Amino acid sequence: MYKINEIAPDLYRISIFAPQFNIQFNHFLIKDDEPLLYHAGLKGMFPLLHEAVKTLIDPKKIKWVGFSHYEVDECGALNEWLQVAPNAQAVCSTVGTIINMSDFAIRPSKPLQHNEVLTTGKYSYRFMRTPHLPHGWDAGVMFEQTNRTLLCSDLFHQNGDVTHLTDVDILEGHKKSMLELEKSPLMDYVPYNHNTAGLLKELADLNPKTLATMHGSSFYGDCSKALLDLDGVMKDLWGDKTNNF
Ligand SMILES: [Fe+2]
Ligand SMILES: [Fe+2]
Repeated sequence: MYKINEIAPDLYRISIFAPQFNIQFNHFLIKDDEPLLYHAGLKGMFPLLHEAVKTLIDPKKIKWVGFSHYEVDECGALNEWLQVAPNAQAVCSTVGTIINMSDFAIRPSKPLQHNEVLTTGKYSYRFMRTPHLPHGWDAGVMFEQTNRTLLCSDLFHQNGDVTHLTDVDILEGHKKSMLELEKSPLMDYVPYNHNTAGLLKELADLNPKTLATMHGSSFYGDCSKALLDLDGVMKDLWGDKTNNF
């Protein structure tokens, strides 16, 4: 089953909970002249996600499929979307297009440079290159500039089938979830390094109104503070293990 909530104007969160992993996989569809789907999702979830998208728009009209980094929950079903939507293109970091999309995607993808803006009609997205944050050489995030929503991928990951949007602190839930993962084969989620604090500061400076998280509740409130505080949480979790990164 899926759940759909509009968490910012025209920005729909489509959540699919996987009980076997105790996590939500959240996908974001933004209605515009050129609709953008952020997170293509897992291949195995494509039929369900497709059904969900159909309740919002004609999936054939999707123009952009965006994601942070190359990983199956981010872009596993990319080619399924490219087949359904004849004009769709993947949009990701320049590194991502060179090292992954050039071979993986069935059509050329659109590379974005740091701070480059993609306009889709009434909305525009600033691309922020964030190598190795949350993970992956090719990582980046997109910031929707009109309603100030940061599509922040795995940052602030929280386990459980939690509420779609909250103004209550999500850092505590994030830390608890990461500590659970640390005791599992999924340890070392983020390679904390000498650039992490600076990258988070750059995202905080965008002054987002909403943090659209891939796993867990999205957050609205003082997002800049949450991003700055996230550095402390990450440093506690992984700083001393990876400071020679
Ligand atoms: Fe990831
Ligand atoms: Fe993820």
